[in-house]
Amino acid sequence: MFAEPRAGGGDLRAVVYDAGTIAARVRELGREITRAYPEGELTLIGLLKGSFIFLADLARAIERPLAVDFVVASSYGTGTVSSGEVRLLYEPAAQLAGRHILLVEDIIDSGRTLASLTDRLRSRGPRSLAVCALLDKRIAPPLPEIRFVGFTAPPKFLVGYGLDHAEEFRHLPYIAEMG
Ligand code: IMP
Ligand code: MG
Repeated sequence: MFAEPRAGGGDLRAVVYDAGTIAARVRELGREITRAYPEGELTLIGLLKGSFIFLADLARAIERPLAVDFVVASSYGTGTVSSGEVRLLYEPAAQLAGRHILLVEDIIDSGRTLASLTDRLRSRGPRSLAVCALLDKRIAPPLPEIRFVGFTAPPKFLVGYGLDHAEEFRHLPYIAEMG
């Protein structure tokens, strides 16, 4: 385990999902998604920045034609508690109308970011709209769009595999709990 040198600090308490466990689950999610969309044009939309590693692995585990795009969202307000109001700094320029849209999210905590984003994306007239989240803390009220979930996460602050704490730790190949 190379948590110390790669993380550059002693802040990580324990590995919660190791790289092999994540890879196996992402492959399964890819198979589930491949089966779930037998026809129609599919666009994966990654919510930056947290989803960038998950999206890269997931896209390669899906065996059907697809397009990839991103959204960049910023929560209004200050501090660590999200206000629930989401401002989009970038949204796909390509047409979403008539396509299957699968929003790819790193982790669902309060679910506010997601609720706001799904409203915004639905207004663009997709053929279907669903969410694939690697982790769900199951704190949020369940949204009908949440169709694919990698793991039910413990109610802890997690970092690695795209997830950050103050922009650190995103590059860790495993997911760890902050100490
Ligand atoms: P929500 O709107 O409260 O669901 O916030 C979701 C966003 O908060 C995620 O996309 C993450 O960027 C961030 N977040 C929530 N929980 C964690 C965590 O445990 N570790 C790192 N980021 C988190
Ligand atoms: Mg974040």
